[in-house]
Amino acid sequence: MKPENEIILIGGGLIGLSLAVELKLRGATVTVLSRNQQEAAGLVGAGMLAPQAEQIPPGPMLDLCLRSRALYNDWTRKLEKLTGLETGYWPCGILAPVYERPDSTTLPQTPDTPSYWLEREAILQQQPGLGDDVVGGWWFPQDGQVDNRRGLVKTLYRAAQELGVKIIEEITVKTLVTSPEKVTEIITNQGNFSADHYILTTGAWAGDLLSIPVYPRKGQMLSVRVPDDFEPLPLKQVLFGSNIYIVPRRDGLIVIGATSEDVGFTCGLTPNGIETLLSGAIRLYPILKEFPIQEFWWGFRPETPDLLPLLGPSYWDNLTLAVGHYRNGILLAPVTAELISNWVLDGQYDPLFEQFRSDRFHP
Ligand code: GLY
Repeated sequence: MKPENEIILIGGGLIGLSLAVELKLRGATVTVLSRNQQEAAGLVGAGMLAPQAEQIPPGPMLDLCLRSRALYNDWTRKLEKLTGLETGYWPCGILAPVYERPDSTTLPQTPDTPSYWLEREAILQQQPGLGDDVVGGWWFPQDGQVDNRRGLVKTLYRAAQELGVKIIEEITVKTLVTSPEKVTEIITNQGNFSADHYILTTGAWAGDLLSIPVYPRKGQMLSVRVPDDFEPLPLKQVLFGSNIYIVPRRDGLIVIGATSEDVGFTCGLTPNGIETLLSGAIRLYPILKEFPIQEFWWGFRPETPDLLPLLGPSYWDNLTLAVGHYRNGILLAPVTAELISNWVLDGQYDPLFEQFRSDRFHP
């Protein structure tokens, strides 16, 4: 496809904006249709860049995640330079304390995936104040975080605007009109649109437009803040426990997540959800119970039956998919933008797409 051809991104969340910026930087004419920025999973998550702490097994998904983690430094610098804003990227490492000693204290390693087992004494030296029943844990120095909520999404949005991406807000795409080979137009609540190519980036809502298995997986979250008189900041790395994570930002905000609930698009917070987060976080890092609460929120991860994304070509020649990133959308944003742009603009079919094709569900 010629770069000057018009591309419509259906979905203005983190993946849609990352793609919009990349395509525009490569010379394409890009329009983003965004229904509601606030509901996008990229804004809701804690911003962990955690392929190792998440224990993604060796294989194509881990390869994709590691490729993306390796892009993060340059990608966020580029966005920061374009906009003058800060993304909050912080390669701080992730500490994963455990309450039961594992059978083996070595993990499969490559030069890109170093990991270290720390006995209780050593883990307490690295992170004082962990709970009494922590027996040890893993240190993943190459995992990290980005401040998605206050930094990355705003930076991407500004970059898209400054580069001249057309962003249409509060627009709901109702139908994709198709011929046997192509999407011919899309019908929205603000009229009909057509383009040379379309990319679906609608996250947990992808199943509303196409018959693909992407479902919402709800997560509730909260944040606390380290009191002003607490010097120096007590946490300088992410803590990744069992069903709980504690993500300290550089300015003393601490994000705590997240529940994982199969409740469809049921909105809102629940006492059970918040109680689970608070008790898990306090068990892992007890002093948190003294820190003032800042905010509660929730959102929907885009889950697929095999927990892998749907990336690359679709049944229709001019429709590409970039959905279903589940727990790893923030981590996978730069590699998704790179690989999908290579495909849409230059027809480069990355071998990794083979594992993430949508026809694995509908052969
Ligand atoms: N990435 C962590 C989560 O989805 O909760």
